[in-house]
Amino acid sequence: MNLCVIGTGYVGLVTGSCFAHKGHKVVCVDKDAEKIRVLNDGGMPIYEPGLEDIVKACRKDKRLRFVTDIAEGMKDAEVIFVCVDTPPTASGTADLSAIENVARQIARHLTRYVVVVEKSTVPVKTGDKVHKTILRHAPKGITCDVVSNPEFLREGSAMKDALNPDRVVLGVTSPKAAEVMKKLYADVTCPVLVTDIASAELIKHASNSFLATKISFINAVAVVCEMSGADIQLVAQGMGLDPRIGSKFLSAGLGYGGSCFPKDVAAFEQIARELGFDFSLLGEVQKINQEMRQRFLRKVEEELWIVKGKTLAVWGLAFKPDTDDIREAPAIELIQRLLEKGASVQAHDPQAMKKAQKVLPGLTCCDSAEEAAKGADALLLCTEWPVFRDFPLAKLKKLLKHPVVLDGRNLYDPVAMRAAGFDYRSVGRA
Ligand code: UGA
Repeated sequence: MNLCVIGTGYVGLVTGSCFAHKGHKVVCVDKDAEKIRVLNDGGMPIYEPGLEDIVKACRKDKRLRFVTDIAEGMKDAEVIFVCVDTPPTASGTADLSAIENVARQIARHLTRYVVVVEKSTVPVKTGDKVHKTILRHAPKGITCDVVSNPEFLREGSAMKDALNPDRVVLGVTSPKAAEVMKKLYADVTCPVLVTDIASAELIKHASNSFLATKISFINAVAVVCEMSGADIQLVAQGMGLDPRIGSKFLSAGLGYGGSCFPKDVAAFEQIARELGFDFSLLGEVQKINQEMRQRFLRKVEEELWIVKGKTLAVWGLAFKPDTDDIREAPAIELIQRLLEKGASVQAHDPQAMKKAQKVLPGLTCCDSAEEAAKGADALLLCTEWPVFRDFPLAKLKKLLKHPVVLDGRNLYDPVAMRAAGFDYRSVGRA
């Protein structure tokens, strides 16, 4: 099929390249000329395992193109995916101006029936507004359908998730649009759930909010573990054995970050409020998430007493491993606070240093984990990259000025750490 993908951020780039990889002809559109130039020069605006190879192969086979002109992108498209940003406003609601703008532009260039697909995460009822906007601005007599097809991919495993989804949700209003979308997803082996648009939109916000709730729940239990002498990993293991609970997303630590959970939980709480429901549970979820960072900082201060003048090593800057994304990353906020308090911070991250350096000019970025640890008064582990997990403990002990390790991701075994002579503190473990 001929597809157009508007917006080449995380979701758009992955969506476009995966459909091209499956054999469709895809034109990706972005108003950011520099981004399109980079992509056309064979570069990658983001780090995502496997993405670059697929983009390269699809461009070579002429199944994937990058343009700035929306009319050119839409020219042959049967389906148009809208994957533009919906950043949070100060009140927590999503800023939908980019979506509205794209809807008007699509309308202006419509020459025949198309299916317009909402991929960006949007508040419930946005699909209706997009449909109305397109019909209002489209040439007389030309119709379209709007579909909500939320994306469930995770950064770091985006290609795998997009190529082998665990479910496809299609929120549709017309049988014609349902047929087009089913044809597009004919190859998937997972369940395909066809719903109305509002339900599909809610599935996305409710899923992310539920996962964030699971993380904050286990983090709250971790605090109780610290106070009672229990071990959060054993507690999580015991809970996770109940198939109704499941063992995934029960890792306690510094809490969630990234471009999705923080934004989506806040937006969902706000959407519910606007509809007349006080979803205060989601307020607590966000509060606990924030508290985990503050508790960790307090642990650093308990260990070092005065942080001013001390040198701290930080391992991990990205909000999770296998990405260079630092949006809402706990490490970034922690480092900011430590720098404000007068500490020197030397950090290493396999992918995120370039982005971190831009927002934290006072941070010293080091080429290796070893270099970051050298001479530091303490090591703070913020992201569980494998390179940190596998670092030899004896070597680490020699590198640090004082053998103090604060583990924000429960990456190391407390018994092994103490046996190796470290002052070791983690989250929810005695
Ligand atoms: C999340 C969802 O998992 C995807 O399904 C969704 O499509 C995506 O948001 C989105 O809305 O676009 P992502 O933000 O890439 O994906 O990352 P996750 O792997 O879900 O991790 C989110 C955060 O939770 C990370 O900071 C991670 O460190 C943290 N986390 C995760 C925990 O603290 N504990 C856990 O047990 C699991």
